[in-house]
Amino acid sequence: MRRLIIAGNWKMNTNMADATILATVIKNRVEDLSGVEIILCPPAVYLSPLSEIISKDLKHLSLGAQNIHYARAGAFTGEISATMVKEYCRYVILGHSERREHFYEDSEFINDKIQAALKSKIKPIICVGEKRKNRDSYKEAASELKKDLAGVDKVDYKDLIIAYEPVWAVGALEPATAEYAAKAITIIREIVGQKTPILYGGSIDSGNIAEFTARPEIDGALVGRASIKATEFVKICQRAEKSKRFENQVVTKDKESTILDEIKIRKININ
Ligand code: PGA
Repeated sequence: MRRLIIAGNWKMNTNMADATILATVIKNRVEDLSGVEIILCPPAVYLSPLSEIISKDLKHLSLGAQNIHYARAGAFTGEISATMVKEYCRYVILGHSERREHFYEDSEFINDKIQAALKSKIKPIICVGEKRKNRDSYKEAASELKKDLAGVDKVDYKDLIIAYEPVWAVGALEPATAEYAAKAITIIREIVGQKTPILYGGSIDSGNIAEFTARPEIDGALVGRASIKATEFVKICQRAEKSKRFENQVVTKDKESTILDEIKIRKININ
């Protein structure tokens, strides 16, 4: 069975003091939440100090970087390599739509970074998603992923995490529907197989997380804005865990609609 994962992408937010408080509060409050793997991705300058807080003995909580360069070292001003972040991180976010858009990263470049991360034994969280919403537009995400993974050994697919993030839902007012996300993820799963966790990302908060994680297709979430509010992020992790436990007990394909009704009821109860 694949694991449930909640990753927080802090982007270019927080200062040292806030980052310390955020990581400390989250750590203290998710200590007993071992049914969900939690990954915090702060700005790179905070990885080293936060690694003192996110102690290695808590197996379900770890740090991730937001980016790496593909080279191990060299004349790349302003960049950091996989070997540099490896000391502190088990994961790295690659191919985020903001990097594709603002830093013109294409699949070839992202592919080099994926290969570099895998070589350094860091697990890439690869973000893919279509730019605009049309009927079946999520197929764009699948073709993006195919390009990102060109030449990556299939044996390594188990070490990847995919985050399906429709670009139109990132930083937006509303997420995609869980049904829409599940459809896209089903297509993506045909590429990566059964072992790779596939998350949903885009406008996730504590009010909507359970709708996503209760679906058998969706293995968790990549959270942006809501990941820099400690209480909100902890709630997301708790509700995700609760919904997955529920799903594991009862989900079968033909029971899906009953379950979705149940989730709505549970959502009301949780809130
Ligand atoms: P959001 O960001 O949750 O703020 O929409 C998601 C992301 O960028 O991964």
